[in-house]
Amino acid sequence: MVQLPMPVAELSRRFSRFADLWCRDESPLYLSLSAAVAEDTALLDLLATSPRAQPTLFFAAARFLGAPHGSYEAFRAFVMDRASDMLALMQIRRTQTNEVGRCAVLLPALAALPQPLALLEVGASAGLCLLLDRYAYEYEVGERQLTIGDGPVRLRCAARGPVPIPRQLPEVIWRRGIDLAPIDVTDLEAVRWLEACIWADQPERLERLRAAIALARETPPEVVQGDATSDLCRLVVEAPRHATLVIFHSAVLPYLDESERQAFAELVRRTDAVWLANEVTGALHPGSSMEPRVRGFVLSQNDEVLAVTHPHGRWVEWTQTRQAGPATSL
Ligand SMILES: C[S@@+](CC[C@H](N)C(=O)[O-])C[C@H]1O[C@@H](n2cnc3c(N)ncnc32)[C@H](O)[C@@H]1O
Repeated sequence: MVQLPMPVAELSRRFSRFADLWCRDESPLYLSLSAAVAEDTALLDLLATSPRAQPTLFFAAARFLGAPHGSYEAFRAFVMDRASDMLALMQIRRTQTNEVGRCAVLLPALAALPQPLALLEVGASAGLCLLLDRYAYEYEVGERQLTIGDGPVRLRCAARGPVPIPRQLPEVIWRRGIDLAPIDVTDLEAVRWLEACIWADQPERLERLRAAIALARETPPEVVQGDATSDLCRLVVEAPRHATLVIFHSAVLPYLDESERQAFAELVRRTDAVWLANEVTGALHPGSSMEPRVRGFVLSQNDEVLAVTHPHGRWVEWTQTRQAGPATSL
């Protein structure tokens, strides 16, 4: 996809929207920084020279280079001073936030499928979500807490509605990821980029990421370099036939343009895999009834909406009532 530099007004709207939609109630720091950037004509002029001026990428680049976050003035002075480094970094890097918290919203759907599973993750980044059967889950259901699994990576998730909380972890016998730019968990510089993608005032996410990386280093998940659409089929045919093949992805479709999204969706529909998508509202189901609830992701299975989910997996609100397998409905 060819990307052209973005007009300043559109860029300003993009930062305002990022502040309102994604930072409010989540990150006071990025809320105030984004709102300030949206008003900062000189900084926007600079960013508009980049064809890849997205807020998440911008903040990750600033963090990677060591920007101070104490005040907007200090942050801005750093960014302006390191403008060429910022632009160069934004040119070569992508938003690759690998958020293991999202496993907590995928797990109920995965555990309800016929086991064992073969997992194929598209846009896997470092592949940390492929290791979802090695994490511990703490679902808060009203006053109760239901725990599944064990280990150093603990994912807390508030379960709302009839979430089919699993009794046990899924059995995964094959896993592969595909990504335009796979992150090698043993590469310190690449991992530093992953860390920079975590918002600077969310230390608990950073801690969780580090725990997942430590676990992944013991048995690194296999993530191959490739494109969601053109390289998917060669991985599909590698999956073992005696397992339920699940093609899943989260926070990936916004990086594809509309025609790429459609081509990808058509391709997945032509496989016999179960398709789990956990994506920003509108990315896959533009006309769905979920559309007004723009502050969450939508989890769907084979085009059927299952739930609305927190973008980093802090809660899942189940909207689908059909009981699909060996799970405990709440
Ligand atoms: C925001 S990250 C999400 C990573 C992971 N899915 C998660 O939820 O933690 C998006 C990932 O999608 C990858 N990506 C973007 N466009 C892609 C494409 N056309 N084909 C394959 N991967 C892509 C990026 O390189 C990046 O690693």
